[in-house]
Amino acid sequence: MADTKILLSEKEIPRQWYNIMADMPQLPGPPLHPATKKPVGPDDLSAIFPMALIEQEMSAERWITIPDEVLDIYALWRPTPLYRAKRLEAVLKTPAHIYYKYEGVSPAGSHKPNTAVPQAYYNKKAGITRIATETGAGQWGSSMALAGKMFGLEVAVYMVRVSYDQKPYRKIAMETWGATVNPSPSSLTNSGRKALEADPDSPGSLGLAISEAVEDAATHSDTNYALGSVLNHVLLHQTVIGQEAKKQLAIAGEYPDIVIGCCGGGSNFGGISFPFLFDEARGKKVRALAVEPASCPTLSKGEFRYDFGDTAGLTPLMMMYTLGHDFMPPGIHAGGLRYHGDSPLVSQLCRDGLIEAKAYRQLACFEAAVIFARSEGIIPAPETSHAIRAAIDEALICKEEGKEKCILFNLSGHGYLDLAAYSDYLGGKLSDYEYPEEMIRKSLSRLPVI
Ligand SMILES: Cc1ncc(COP(=O)(O)O)c(C=O)c1O
Repeated sequence: MADTKILLSEKEIPRQWYNIMADMPQLPGPPLHPATKKPVGPDDLSAIFPMALIEQEMSAERWITIPDEVLDIYALWRPTPLYRAKRLEAVLKTPAHIYYKYEGVSPAGSHKPNTAVPQAYYNKKAGITRIATETGAGQWGSSMALAGKMFGLEVAVYMVRVSYDQKPYRKIAMETWGATVNPSPSSLTNSGRKALEADPDSPGSLGLAISEAVEDAATHSDTNYALGSVLNHVLLHQTVIGQEAKKQLAIAGEYPDIVIGCCGGGSNFGGISFPFLFDEARGKKVRALAVEPASCPTLSKGEFRYDFGDTAGLTPLMMMYTLGHDFMPPGIHAGGLRYHGDSPLVSQLCRDGLIEAKAYRQLACFEAAVIFARSEGIIPAPETSHAIRAAIDEALICKEEGKEKCILFNLSGHGYLDLAAYSDYLGGKLSDYEYPEEMIRKSLSRLPVI
């Protein structure tokens, strides 16, 4: 009988990150300065990022060595297990082979520490003592709090208001790891105060929380900013996931026909799929599918053009799919997927037809999450349920067509601190948000003209 778990030893933690920029047929347009609209150089970014990360952001090197200090901390949870979802396959009666890589075994419960740790490391090395950052669902804030503590950095987190209210245990986790947590919009920054003036009950958004954290970093000389997704160096760090998964599937004698990841800013999707796209650039065939919420359908319904990464327009302009930087997505439970934009790398790959995107509504995702929890046991994060929905649908297509395809998805995080969302779902209190076409149209009409 095939193994249920495929495990690697600590010696097999990847020693290098994979930089997909070395293999992309077309690179995204360069980031532009928010005021001059000219391409930004390393010096423009050095007010809020350490030079080592700026170099990674712009690097053309295919492989980048992971420092020993980072590997040492990765070893607390890496390599993560790869599971064959035998029980889910049986429930679905599908001939497909379904595998999931489980990133929920990290101390913070998701893939996010894979980049929080190197970001903390490079900041510490650069003499920084404090990090300001944002968090949506709380997964990234928790990861940065943990990584900051490992390297003796103070961490200030701006947490999107709706998640701050929905997920009190995430806040407690961050505080346990020593971070300070402020609901966003807050009265601590100009961007926050402006948003509160416009709407004292604002639910907040990732774009707005980013504005607050960037402003905090830019106005404190001891402080840098850290972002949990979107940027090239973040996706780079996450490629440990796909590299391990490839080795593990090879042990099982398999290669995926389709690789699936949920997509907020793109780091979990990039992390699982880019090492397989490396193979595709060398002639192998693989489908890569990014899954997003229908209430925030950036890749599926956004426009591909320059936009700010945050609401207030403080960050460089990035070439990406966007719904408009002041788009305020509905308060769905998958808080980590409520981002108006997407990684420029993922956006460019989508534009060039090298990856696919699909959007699902919240109820269909929770239904899939419950099927998964009742077959495989793990209760997934609401974000991850989007990938599970897509994996189940692909497996059902295999059943209809009688095809034995190999499906791999990333179980990006567990949902044990998201049980209020499950309570709402099981109690029939969750609804599907309509695709907010009018809001998106208005927001897109306010995009900067380049
Ligand atoms: C569990 C989980 N999965 C996925 C995501 C989506 O983020 P990204 O697209 O950067 O992977 C998040 C974001 O917070 C998350 O918490």
